[in-house]
Amino acid sequence: MAASARVKALNEVHSVAVIGDLLTHAGAREDLGEGQALSTLQGDLTLHNLHYAYDNDGPALAGVNATFPFGKTTLLAGPSGSGKSTLLDILLRLEEPQSGSIQAMGVAASDYRLADWRKQFGYVSQEAALFNGDIRMNLRLAHPTASDAEVEQACRLAGADSFIRELPNGYDTLVGDRGYSLSGGQRKRIAIARALIRKPAVLILDEATTSFEQSLEQSMLGILRSTMPHMTIVQVTHRLPANRK
Ligand SMILES: Nc1ncnc2c1ncn2[C@@H]1O[C@H](COP(=O)(O)OP(=O)(O)OP(=O)(O)O)[C@@H](O)[C@H]1O
Ligand SMILES: [Mg+2]
Repeated sequence: MAASARVKALNEVHSVAVIGDLLTHAGAREDLGEGQALSTLQGDLTLHNLHYAYDNDGPALAGVNATFPFGKTTLLAGPSGSGKSTLLDILLRLEEPQSGSIQAMGVAASDYRLADWRKQFGYVSQEAALFNGDIRMNLRLAHPTASDAEVEQACRLAGADSFIRELPNGYDTLVGDRGYSLSGGQRKRIAIARALIRKPAVLILDEATTSFEQSLEQSMLGILRSTMPHMTIVQVTHRLPANRK
């Protein structure tokens, strides 16, 4: 028992170091509280001449101009490595562009309080990471005070509620490290539900639905659109509908 406890403890050491590092350095890197207050983003997002290059690398984005209209869905498509995820990171202000700006409701995004800015977004990243815990905990990460009814409503919208109920422990099922005990599509559905719980002004889907059958993808997006008619959606996809290329 002592030997196995020691192995377990050693396994956690790396995680503790990573979390410690984040807690010490993230605060210094990001100032969440300074800037103009923003309660609800109700306008287009406009990108002006964005330039971004990772350290020691050529440009990932070179002069991007775009508008994501309020309450509409915008599809982003392009070859692997063309900068789609980088663009989303800049939109969320996880990265700062070297030049150019994002404008929303007549103000530069960088002038808004970072905490307020981030609250506007529901983000399903390309990896759709889940944490080793139960499903309900994973869903509540985005909104710790959400009621069970709110959690379940978000899951119904994302098409996750029915498969979660069929799992042996329902919403209390443990998903394992990075959610390995679920299929890729199931993980994505939970990540989409997690992004929806806070009813964000802007929903960002980075290839969140590419593993779904096309008919399921279309029905989920249709339900989302009709339930949340004012939500701005930015969707990275490899499947452009034929009539919208
Ligand atoms: N963290 C990083 N550090 C250094 N370079 C990076 C990093 N992330 C992305 N890049 C580089 O920036 C460019 C754009 O990458 P990005 O991930 O934005 O592309 P993408 O369009 O999302 O691709 P995919 O369709 O494969 O997801 C690529 O050349 C990539 O190698
Ligand atoms: Mg990407």
